[in-house]
Amino acid sequence: MNVSVVGTGYVGLVSAVCLAEKGHQVICVDVDEAKVDQINQGISPIYEDGLDSLLEKNVGVRVLATTDLRRAVLDSDLSLIAVGTPFDGNEIDLKYVRIVSEQVGLILKEKSSYHVVVMKSTVVPGTTEEVMVPILEKASGKLVGRDFGVGMNPEFLREGEAIQDFLYPDRIVLGGVDKRSVDALAALYEGFPGVDLIRTNTKTAEMIKYSSNSLLATLISFSNEIGNLCAKVGVDVVDAMHGVHLDRRLSPILATGERVYPSSLTYLAAGCGFGGSCFPKDVKALIAYGKQVGSPMELLQAVIDINSAQPQRMLDLVKEQYPNLDGVKVAVLGMAFKPGTDDIRESPSLPVTDILVSEGALVSAFDPIARHEAEGRFGSAVRFSDDLEGAIEGADAILVMTRWKQFERLPELVAGMAKAPLVVDGRRMLAKDSVPRYRGIGLAPDASLSV
Ligand code: UGA
Repeated sequence: MNVSVVGTGYVGLVSAVCLAEKGHQVICVDVDEAKVDQINQGISPIYEDGLDSLLEKNVGVRVLATTDLRRAVLDSDLSLIAVGTPFDGNEIDLKYVRIVSEQVGLILKEKSSYHVVVMKSTVVPGTTEEVMVPILEKASGKLVGRDFGVGMNPEFLREGEAIQDFLYPDRIVLGGVDKRSVDALAALYEGFPGVDLIRTNTKTAEMIKYSSNSLLATLISFSNEIGNLCAKVGVDVVDAMHGVHLDRRLSPILATGERVYPSSLTYLAAGCGFGGSCFPKDVKALIAYGKQVGSPMELLQAVIDINSAQPQRMLDLVKEQYPNLDGVKVAVLGMAFKPGTDDIRESPSLPVTDILVSEGALVSAFDPIARHEAEGRFGSAVRFSDDLEGAIEGADAILVMTRWKQFERLPELVAGMAKAPLVVDGRRMLAKDSVPRYRGIGLAPDASLSV
């Protein structure tokens, strides 16, 4: 199939490259010439594991980038719209969706063959049909369902694992205004045998995406609320949630007898809070949507409130031993909102570091990948180190904010330090007896050791 992908951000570029890998001819469109040039040279403008090699393999063969939207739409059968939906703190801003819909509509005016326009960006329920369709119809002078098709195909990609998630999805949601639009989307995903395909309307597709992220965020805030209770009553949340997680409804057992998630508390791991460009934004957008349609989302509001308070718990644990932070040397380990990415958006490390700096702590930091982004955010207020050793040197307290594998070495490094620092584990990734002065989220000072 000939496909155009409008917007070469994270979702657009990963989708484009993976669809090419599946054998489609893909044209990427972006207004940013520098990005277009980079893509055509086989260099990914974003950091994502495995993307560079897949792009390099397909560029010039099945992937091409251009700034010429008109050519891209005229030369393809289907367009995926993957433009940004920036967040103003409360609602998503649809300005780019509107601009691109109008431009695509004007091109459809001169196109004689049937074309399907598919929303790929995350948008609140109703947006595709209530915002995009009227603009497309007005600009093209054509009728949806008769002259062109419209679909909604949400993505479920995790940063850092996006390529795997795209190529091996749990399900593919195909929303459309009519059967012909859904059929066109089904043809696009023909190369995914055995994957559950959900054929539905566009509003349900939009709702699936928001509900999905909201449920995962709810699981995290639930675990954090239980963790906060555990810390008060002398229970370790890791042990408590481990027992909860082994319920087959939460971690199914395969026919082979193996558990699907045998070793990790998937989305049930308490910690210093969720971040990133999706969970906080999507949950808040769904809350705003519920309010707008007269259906208050009380549970989701609590999910956000719990998450916003969670970074402060890290500081509370430091202040138990250093009530006055002025002059205290604190090492913040991990700036990215999770491992495997350089993305620091909404990372719990940001408010924690801000408060440490404002209270006079001497802050050093280390992140294996997100250093550049974090330096841009904090400037000289924080001393960034090239390595873990440099960041923790002479520290009174060490805060583990991101579950980077590299931090597993911490106990060994702490053992070699002249004065044992307080280690506050915001991801509960270290054994609690692995360092002399250990404190963790969801753990009381006197919590009994696992037996
Ligand atoms: C999330 C979803 O997992 C994807 O399915 C979705 O497509 C994507 O948002 C999106 O809407 O584009 P992502 O933002 O990459 O993906 O991040 P996750 O890996 O889901 O982690 C989110 C946050 O939750 C991280 O800060 C992580 O540290 C935190 N987390 C995760 C916990 O605190 N506890 C857990 O048990 C799991």
